[in-house]
Amino acid sequence: ATGLLQDSLQRPLRDLRISVTDRCNFRCVYCMPREVFDKNYPYLPHSALLTFEEITRLAKLMVAHGVRKIRLTGGEPLLRKNLDRLIAMLRDLTTPDGHALDITLTTNGALLAQKAQQLKDAGLDRVTVSLDALDDGIFKRMNDADFSVDEVLKGLEVAHQVGLGPIKVNMVVKKGVNDNQIVPMARYFKGSPFVLRFIEYMDVGASNGWQMDEVIPSQQVIDRINLSSPDMQLQPLEAHYSGETAQRWQYNDGSGEIGVISSVTQAFCRDCTRLRLSTEGKIYTCLFASQGHDLRTLLRNNADDAQLTSAIGHVWTQRTDRYSELRSAQSSLGGSVPNKVEMSYIGG
Ligand code: GTP
Ligand code: 5AD
Ligand code: SF4
Ligand code: SF4
Repeated sequence: ATGLLQDSLQRPLRDLRISVTDRCNFRCVYCMPREVFDKNYPYLPHSALLTFEEITRLAKLMVAHGVRKIRLTGGEPLLRKNLDRLIAMLRDLTTPDGHALDITLTTNGALLAQKAQQLKDAGLDRVTVSLDALDDGIFKRMNDADFSVDEVLKGLEVAHQVGLGPIKVNMVVKKGVNDNQIVPMARYFKGSPFVLRFIEYMDVGASNGWQMDEVIPSQQVIDRINLSSPDMQLQPLEAHYSGETAQRWQYNDGSGEIGVISSVTQAFCRDCTRLRLSTEGKIYTCLFASQGHDLRTLLRNNADDAQLTSAIGHVWTQRTDRYSELRSAQSSLGGSVPNKVEMSYIGG
């Protein structure tokens, strides 16, 4: 039972984002605020986690259904023990049309210098690294776990050296917290092998106390960079593919590109082809979903491939999600969706 799936808005299933742990060594204020994610927080017990065999089995069925990009997320994915073994297992999957499977990972970078070579050897294609500031004080206030900018920069450098590229750097911009880092970050990465992307602070989860007035619209990010200096002039670039999260811009002087991810001010649900698999084996059809569909029970009750495939197909074909578009259409919606899952649980 293979064949391409389309959801109720004719969107195919193309990307699978797999969360491999709900834990993180950072406590970013916009994601895992320390007041909520303290020592009493009910993290998943080990027995609840999908095993690598279970993850790979589901991934294989989804690849048969059209998935061509797999992203490992968390929490912080590098905290999952023996992650290189999972990567090697995913690397062995083949697509029905012989098209390459892009295997990538989003990390905060703290453990990257130490693990990059091992990840590369296991078959990882590339990494995306989060970095919210160049100023150490600001960065530490944002990650709230005393990690320094240099540790992340070191991770970036080693990842680049071992060939885990093209590497993207993601910066979440929160007004009054790190927006004064927009221009320094742009300047620092201009002309480097790294593509910096500015992300609008989003109302994911239920703990970050999101408010619209803490968002810097991407257009302002572009304006600030343009106004900062004559050698920082930007012009728009074509998307690589439809449904790309980032809008691309390049420097007029040929020194590379940046991206802006505007899920608040310019939603990109229309072409959203992403399915998320949580650490404990639930699939979510939207980053802002309040409920997932449990596949672990099926897996552990010895369901065969046909049953699993049918469950996945059923969820995808029923899919109607376009949360960000609806939020923009009705700007007060943010707080009105109950029990949105946490970003650290579902992955970014
Ligand atoms: P590339 O393949 O490198 O282009 O990756 P990507 O942009 O698809 O993935 P990445 O994890 O780098 O995403 C960057 C950020 O975009 C995430 O951290 C989220 O903040 C946001 N994002 C990614 N996917 C979605 C989505 O489906 N919906 C919304 N609203 N935001 C998303
Ligand atoms: N808004 C936007 N991006 C977020 N991320 C985590 N929380 C948020 C939020 N509230 C991003 C991180 C990282 C990825 C894992 O998700 O910056 O790049
Ligand atoms: Fe951890 Fe990433 Fe969330 Fe920060 S954004 S707390 S690094 S999972
Ligand atoms: Fe996709 Fe939901 Fe994000 Fe829209 S809000 S792009 S449907 S994950």
